[in-house]
Amino acid sequence: MCGIVGYVGPRDCSDVLVSALTKLEYRGYDSAGIAVFENNAIKVAKSKGRLTDLTKKMQKEGKPIGHAGIGHTRWATHGEPSDINSHPHSGKRVTLVHNGIIENYKEIKQFLMSNDRRGFLSDTDTEVVAQLLDFYYDGDPIRAIRKMLHEVRGSFALGIIFADRPDTVYAVRCESPLIVGQGSGEAFIASDVPAIIQYTKNYYLLDHGEIAVLKNGIASFCDLHGRMVEKELKTADWDEDSAEKGEYEHFMIKEIHEQPTAVKTTITPRIENGMPDLSECGITPDMLRGYQRIFIVACGTAMHAGMVGKYVIERLARVPVTVDMASEFRYRDPLLSEEDLVVIISQSGETADSKEALNLSKRLGAKTLAVVNVKGSSIAREADMVIYTHAGPEIAVASTKAYLVQLSVMYLLAFEMAYANGKLSEEECRRLTASLVATPAAIAKTIDDLVDDCQYISTKLITADSLLYIGRGLDYALSMEGSLKLKEISYIHSESYAAGELKHGTISLIVDGMPVIAVATQNTLLEKTVSNIKEVKSRGAMTIVVCDELSSIDPEAADYIIRVPRIEEVLMPMVAAIPLQLLAYYTSVNKGNDVDKPRNLAKSVTVE
Ligand code: G6P
Repeated sequence: MCGIVGYVGPRDCSDVLVSALTKLEYRGYDSAGIAVFENNAIKVAKSKGRLTDLTKKMQKEGKPIGHAGIGHTRWATHGEPSDINSHPHSGKRVTLVHNGIIENYKEIKQFLMSNDRRGFLSDTDTEVVAQLLDFYYDGDPIRAIRKMLHEVRGSFALGIIFADRPDTVYAVRCESPLIVGQGSGEAFIASDVPAIIQYTKNYYLLDHGEIAVLKNGIASFCDLHGRMVEKELKTADWDEDSAEKGEYEHFMIKEIHEQPTAVKTTITPRIENGMPDLSECGITPDMLRGYQRIFIVACGTAMHAGMVGKYVIERLARVPVTVDMASEFRYRDPLLSEEDLVVIISQSGETADSKEALNLSKRLGAKTLAVVNVKGSSIAREADMVIYTHAGPEIAVASTKAYLVQLSVMYLLAFEMAYANGKLSEEECRRLTASLVATPAAIAKTIDDLVDDCQYISTKLITADSLLYIGRGLDYALSMEGSLKLKEISYIHSESYAAGELKHGTISLIVDGMPVIAVATQNTLLEKTVSNIKEVKSRGAMTIVVCDELSSIDPEAADYIIRVPRIEEVLMPMVAAIPLQLLAYYTSVNKGNDVDKPRNLAKSVTVE
């Protein structure tokens, strides 16, 4: 969703802001803008569309020249994407950028209007905050921000400049993510680390209600009560290259290729003497033994990783697992007790619905475990326990490597829990763990072997209006992710369906030539899945079957067969995910779509 940046230092501020915003493009946006102090006056440039539209506009109308300012990419919530609704927004003496939602903006607007503040130009909730701050501003920016914070409800982050405080940037965080970068003689604000990594790896994490002041290249902090706060300076363990495409055409294909390393980095520290060991994350076998039920709650791809987790944990550890979309869970009045474990899976650690699901679970007394990629993110900090995935920054909106590392954590959890519960012998547990350790090599081989095939088969998909993904058991769980991947970036309608359920309705959709992608990696279910494939094939479907290298598939059932290495049956999603990612990627490329930044989507959904 929206991205915020800010800069104070010796460089050309407009260039820094635009360049930092480019690194936040992945979050999704439909307009962009900056505000910079030029000769002690605030100069604003903003435009609907991409950052390139903003840059062109600045080339024509003049780029603000200065050394302090704020910038923004907007993902429209209140008011359509337009020049006027783009950020920054201003009151008389205040200009600001905003990420998040102001829930009570209508009441505040009413209050301001009844106090003779009527000059609202946009439809946004943001402008209301700018006007409110201006209303409270008496020459003391911190006092005005604190007063504003008492009135405003919602989750948001703001970057603010005051017209009579040249070359100073203020920032405040209320739930929505915001970091403060500290370079040598320069300071930054940003919604996420990749925005600043080209300038500095050192950053502070703003806590809820904290205010940052960037002045003379130095960041300082105070709390909601105006008291100075000393904060710990953190160092990002990502290098600059991890936020660059390098030799690849898109981030998505780069991230697909990064999967073997991401999986290896995620599992290695959690294996001790050939056995799963989550003690590094503060999780002991005793803790894992105690849970009566497990709830896995997440959104999008992370939720699909949870579906695989359900099959594996139930099969191996014999503990009942319920998987919920966070947006449903938070409103369905779930029955939770102190004996339950709620696992929140999230790449960003900032997804609004997942965050609220976590808060609800804590209120209801359940133990909470976060499986999160972004260090220090809200979900990671608020859960009782956290297992970090080590995928590095994922920039493409369509998640790939984050999914695979989430799966690998699901396996570690299932193995350790199954062993702790006495459902898996030590020998079995060692064998499965060794197979998991071997997956990075199998993933690398799968990518190498299948790029060309998937590129070719994707040419058969680009003209489809709609397609189906089918599978049984773990293959069904995986096909949900395959289907999501394809629809996100190719804009082709697609559904995943349990293969055995097809004939209860969905099979009526099959028409001549309709592509059906069947995932058939579970040998115990293979015959049954093949029967389902034949049912659609005989009704005209074009069938693409993903199976292991050793399975014999009746040639009459499949128009195309994609073979992946045969590994442990329960681990097959780790390799079978690859062709599904590649098919989606190449279909999107062949359609000429914006692969990394698909329309209407945001990488990190920080509003409900
Ligand atoms: C958005 C992204 C998805 C992601 C989902 C959950 O919809 O586009 O790729 O799976 O949010 O995000 P999270 O950061 O919580 O994993």
